[in-house]
Amino acid sequence: MREYKIFHGKTLGILSGGGDTPAINSSIENIRNRAQLLGYKVFGVRHGWKGLLGDGDVVDLTNQPYDGIYGGTALRSSRTNPFPSKKNPENRVPQILKNLERYKIDVLVSIGGDDTNGAAKKLYETEGIPVIGFPKTIDNDLRTRTIHEYGNLKIDSVLCPGYPSALKGVMELTHRIKTTAESHSRIMILEVMGRDAGWLVGGAAYGQADMILIPEYPMDKSRKDFFLEQVKENFLRSSKKSLIIAVSEGVKWYNDETGKTDVVYASTEVDEYGHPRLGGISGVIASEISNKLGIEARAQNVGYFARSGECRLYDRKLTATLADKVVDLLLREDYGKMPVIKKMVSYPELEEFNTGCIDMGNVGNQPLPEIYYDIDEMRFTDAYFDFMHHILGDRTFFDFKYDFPVVIPDIK
Ligand code: F6P
Repeated sequence: MREYKIFHGKTLGILSGGGDTPAINSSIENIRNRAQLLGYKVFGVRHGWKGLLGDGDVVDLTNQPYDGIYGGTALRSSRTNPFPSKKNPENRVPQILKNLERYKIDVLVSIGGDDTNGAAKKLYETEGIPVIGFPKTIDNDLRTRTIHEYGNLKIDSVLCPGYPSALKGVMELTHRIKTTAESHSRIMILEVMGRDAGWLVGGAAYGQADMILIPEYPMDKSRKDFFLEQVKENFLRSSKKSLIIAVSEGVKWYNDETGKTDVVYASTEVDEYGHPRLGGISGVIASEISNKLGIEARAQNVGYFARSGECRLYDRKLTATLADKVVDLLLREDYGKMPVIKKMVSYPELEEFNTGCIDMGNVGNQPLPEIYYDIDEMRFTDAYFDFMHHILGDRTFFDFKYDFPVVIPDIK
């Protein structure tokens, strides 16, 4: 039977690069299964682009057991950039070409965000390597041209595998921390990943955070002063004298001492794509609230908890549907493309007829559309809640809404 399969004798390679997400194993499993049915032998390139350097690090995924629900990536990941960078000026593209030849990889699927797929795009454009990009990022900032229909509007939105699971995780963690904030009448500052864009912190809003700060709007001196006024007002007005303020790690914050508005770095050391490590903005905001407003505030960093853990249902189907589109691209031998969801839909409509593809030439970052954020109220708009509703469904949270009668001591 095998001989009669369309791509018998051909090999498809899969690699994953950049930060892990809960949906990468699901993507690998779904792509592998479909490619195998077409007759491909399927190889996994380990540690992203690094697995095609030197002698290579490649495993055979054909007819092997796989668990796509388990989060992260069994192929491992790295932030290796084959092209010269500040951190590593060596051009390692010849090593990639040599290994594709040595391992006889005919087509390569690169699962990644802007960095990994940006490199794939360059390899396709400059070396003619047959690549198919596959979107992945919890930050949801890789352009996918997913149209979100909202009223009469058609919003140019984004939907990347990994984000739905992370969004749900952030929602759950936020709602969970409310009980501690309420018990201690505190303000909790919750820091959520999202280097350049505020998509992911939306999960905190869904989980009932009261105020949100996103990287698209720097907190210069006047915005910071306004924010502190709002915090005080909202805290005093809150029924339980507590607030949850969610902040993206990439928010630029005015520093009273230096007079500069900048991100808070965990480390200024950069990776091969030139990104420093961010982290610590929540601590800075919490101490300014405590010191300037005299209200007890604490910082919590959601950090890797958003990225880790199992693949949720929406992501499971999203990756399967995009893998269906990979079949279409393979059958047409149409490379230099990335499958995407054309229209924002809820779970049952995640089907192949709602997919499309974009040219790798259009791969790039996309910030949160302006219409999704209310800059004065410092919260997301109904339009963004509508977007997230497709993934998260109705909010079914319980609140402790009982008030007890106050007892006045009998002084007679
Ligand atoms: O790129 C995705 C991301 O989740 C960013 O939000 C974050 O800044 C980055 O990964 C951190 O990743 P790591 O600590 O693994 O370098």
